[in-house]
Amino acid sequence: MRMKIGFLLICLLVLTITRDCTCERCDDWGEDTRKLTQAYDGEPVRIRCPLFEGYLKHNYSAAHSAGLTLMWYWTGKGKDLEEPINIRLPDNRISKDKDILWFRPSLLNDTGNYTCMLRNTTFCLKIAFPLEVLKKDSKSCVSNDKVAKVFYFPLDETSILHCPDTEDYYPTGVTPTVNWYRRCELVDGFVDRDPDGLNLKFLNMLQRYEGNYTCIVSYEENGREYNLTRTMYVKAIASRFYAKAPEMRTPSDKQTFEFQAGGELHIPCDVYFSYVDNSFIEIGWTINGKNEGDFTDPRIQVNESVILDKISPSLYAAPGRCALMDAPARAVLQPPEALYRALGRLQHEGGRRS
Ligand SMILES: *[C@@H]1O[C@H](CO)[C@@H](O)[C@H](O)[C@H]1NC(C)=O
Ligand SMILES: *[C@@H]1O[C@H](CO)[C@@H](O)[C@H](O)[C@H]1NC(C)=O
Ligand SMILES: *[C@@H]1O[C@H](CO)[C@@H](O)[C@H](O)[C@H]1NC(C)=O
Ligand SMILES: *[C@@H]1O[C@H](CO)[C@@H](O)[C@H](O)[C@H]1NC(C)=O
Ligand SMILES: *[C@@H]1O[C@H](CO)[C@@H](O)[C@H](O)[C@H]1NC(C)=O
Ligand SMILES: *[C@@H]1O[C@H](CO)[C@@H](O)[C@H](O)[C@H]1NC(C)=O
Ligand SMILES: *[C@@H]1O[C@H](CO)[C@@H](O)[C@H](O)[C@H]1NC(C)=O
Repeated sequence: MRMKIGFLLICLLVLTITRDCTCERCDDWGEDTRKLTQAYDGEPVRIRCPLFEGYLKHNYSAAHSAGLTLMWYWTGKGKDLEEPINIRLPDNRISKDKDILWFRPSLLNDTGNYTCMLRNTTFCLKIAFPLEVLKKDSKSCVSNDKVAKVFYFPLDETSILHCPDTEDYYPTGVTPTVNWYRRCELVDGFVDRDPDGLNLKFLNMLQRYEGNYTCIVSYEENGREYNLTRTMYVKAIASRFYAKAPEMRTPSDKQTFEFQAGGELHIPCDVYFSYVDNSFIEIGWTINGKNEGDFTDPRIQVNESVILDKISPSLYAAPGRCALMDAPARAVLQPPEALYRALGRLQHEGGRRS
């Protein structure tokens, strides 16, 4: 009897603390809309609490062993009440696993904002992020509202398209059936494109192979069939084997810029890129060895063009250069003395005119 009363007291204490906790204010980090997850009605999906992905130093295991609890809430589409998530649905349709919330499967009315809250008695932090469950378009294997990730494949090269985010959905040991589609047509006997399980091999990329490719992974779990549908947009890019170096068109050795003394002159910086992939390109001017930020002469302004205002002989001597910096190599391409010569000639003409 005494033990029972003791147990009751502990229960009451726990209840009181929990109630107090929910009354306490919680640091609300708002909604992370970049974390939008889109899923198809009837297909399994998982959402991961973003707190442990870049917001906090600790991962879930570290937070958990430090005594912090992770709780989930959601606000259904068109509602304004935040509710706890029912994880006692038949067949465990929605379940919690560490920092992941699983939907097996997700349904249209699961669409809404999901909040994960990390707390102990003195500390509380929460963040929300959206889940959108979509219906496939009629007579289609996909929905046009689902954002397709873009993959860039170089022309005339071999590349592999992988069906993403399907790992851990089916039990280990289960080999799912994978079908590949282009425009919802089964990729079967397509030229240059060989499906191989979760991979679709592009043997020799051509421009006309561009487009949306969809993989549908099917597996069985507890006697139910599930599909996972993923769509990727494949885009052709120039092969680096044929890449030409960037080319400076203006200013060039062959150009002459005429001006009126005391007037204004615009010299555009015109560069042609035959190939840009994963490289940061910066175009800028250097004048007399000084970079744009360091120009002190108020008569020189730079946007894309260099603008020389109220031109006088002291300016003509400034060898200006439009430079192209192609990071990360940061090679600096410069037309050999192009602008210098152009300006030299200007000086001459200007001198004659004034
Ligand atoms: C979590 O972080 C701890 C150290 O803070 C590390 O030892 C552990 O391997 C991490 N766990 C995972 C699953 O990343
Ligand atoms: C969501 O939809 C399913 C069937 O489509 C229904 O069984 C379930 O009750 C709905 N849930 C809510 C919260 O409306
Ligand atoms: C989620 O919340 C934002 C505002 O915070 C709202 O604009 C958006 O419509 C909500 N999304 C859903 C699916 O309810
Ligand atoms: C609650 O968690 C915070 C952050 O990890 C920690 O600094 C604090 O000591 C914890 N409080 C209790 C009572 O465990
Ligand atoms: C590829 O799919 C996206 C939607 O995911 C759609 O907006 C786009 O028009 C499609 N592109 C082609 C070429 O079919
Ligand atoms: C899975 O996808 C296949 C092929 O698109 C379709 O025939 C089947 O009905 C789908 N099954 C479920 C449970 O959605
Ligand atoms: C650069 O400045 C010139 C002259 O003021 C102007 O005509 C041009 O539109 C500007 N270009 C940009 C990209 O701002």
